[in-house]
Formats: sequence, C-alpha cells, structure tokens
Amino acid sequence: MLLLRTLFNDLPGDGGTTATPAMLQAVINAHLDDSWNEGGMTSLELHVAQLTGRACSLLVVSGTMGNQLAFRTHLTQPPMAVLLDSRSHTLENEAGGIATLSGALVQPVMPSNGVYLTLEDIKKHIILTEDQCSCPTRVIHLENTLSGTIMPLEETRRISEFARTKGVKVHCDGARLWDAVAAGAGSLTDFCALYDSVTLCFTKGLGASVGSILVGEKEFIKRAKWLRKSIGGVYAPTRYYRRRSASRLGRSLWSGSDRRAEPA
Ligand SMILES: Cc1ncc(COP(=O)(O)O)c(C=O)c1O
Repeated sequence: MLLLRTLFNDLPGDGGTTATPAMLQAVINAHLDDSWNEGGMTSLELHVAQLTGRACSLLVVSGTMGNQLAFRTHLTQPPMAVLLDSRSHTLENEAGGIATLSGALVQPVMPSNGVYLTLEDIKKHIILTEDQCSCPTRVIHLENTLSGTIMPLEETRRISEFARTKGVKVHCDGARLWDAVAAGAGSLTDFCALYDSVTLCFTKGLGASVGSILVGEKEFIKRAKWLRKSIGGVYAPTRYYRRRSASRLGRSLWSGSDRRAEPA
C-alpha cells in the first residue's frame, strides 16, 4: 500500500514539461522575424486555424489566458452567466477570473450521469428567460477532456445545435482536446466546428514549454486580440526565443571584438 502510494505520488502530471533537445533545436532553427501572414496572423496562428478548420486563431501565454479572454470577448453586457460543469478548470483553478474579469455569474452543474454534461443537463439548468429577476446564460462552457474524461462528439453536437437555436455561445476549454482526438473520439475539425471558441494548449499533452491558442471566427478573434493587449498579453515570442538562442551562443558573441547590441 505504501509502495503504491509512493508510486502514484511520484507519477508526473502533464502540467510540467522539460524541453527536449529537438525542441531546443527547433527554437534555434526558427526564423527570427516577427512578420505576420495573411489576416494579421503569425504562421503558427495560421497553421492552427487551418488545422481546426476555423477562420482565425490567437496565440496566448497560457490556457487560463485563452479561457478568460474567450469569456471576456463573448460576454459584453450584464446581466450574464456562464453555465459549466461544476468540476471545470475555469471554475476551480482560474482564480475566479470569470467573476473578476468578466463580471459574470457562474452556473455550475454536476452532470447527472456523473461523467459529462448532456443536453438534458443543459436544458434543466440553462436560464433563457428575459425576466428582470433572472441572470441569463450567455455562454455554455464545456471542457474536453475533463480530468481525462472525453466528452463525446455526439453529445457536443446536441448541445451545440441547441445552443445555436437559443443564441447562446459555446466555449470549450480544449487544453487537452488533442488527447480526445488522439483517442479516436472525433477529428479536430469535427469538434472545433461545434464551438464558437476553443482554447488549445501547446503545453500539457503536447509537451511544449509555453503557450496556448484561442480559436474562433474573425470578429471574435479581432475583439479577443484587443482584449489580450489590455491585459498585457501581447509579447514577442519570436524575439524571446531569439534572445534565448542568442544567449546560448552568447559567450562567443558578446565577448568577441564584434560587440553587437543584444537582439531585442
Ligand atoms: C483543463 C485545463 N484547462 C486550462 C488549464 C490552464 O492552463 P495554464 O496552466 O496554461 O494556464 C489547465 C491547466 O492545467 C487545465 O488542466
């Protein structure tokens, strides 16, 4: 028993990553300008937009930033509420951001099947009335996978179709949506077509050291980009990598007679 406990305590989660030599090599080989491609997207953003079959995407520092930006972008006018699984990362582990950043009420629901939200759960708890005493649901928030559990494509489709008929947005915390796709639950494009927005993480299962991406339609990403700026989320990742690469090569660069300024 003690041995088992020790073993489980020692199992690493996917939250921490160590860069592999191949990742570091990729940083060194990356092209170093900050040029933007079509539609004001970087090549990485363009690539993810194509992978997901959506119009646009926006690089963000973390999964938390992607989720919270999505809420802030969708939620424009109080009163407003977000309906979600009561075990969601956004509720339990994002420092109350839905309340502080978006000023929205959270409507937590424990799935009646104990596993994932169904359309029946949503219909039971969603607030659609315009009654002045109520706080209407403006966003249905799904998480896939949630603690390793896959939300099936078919159930996602049922919820999404219902939400669209009611004018309610669907955001997915897809930090580990890649895992659901890799497990054969459906294609990335099939899932992403059902969300108004989705956050995908390059960390966790994919193992990169930093970064997440928010995906959605053009107007949504345009507004999210504006809000990203307002919370200091605009940075120059390629310059950052350039600096790191330069510092690796550094000594010979900075100690020689050719004392060029450190790259910005
Ligand atoms: C499901 C889920 N969503 C979002 C996040 C937040 O990601 P980050 O740590 O990059 O902010 C995590 C982090 O573990 C997570 O597990």
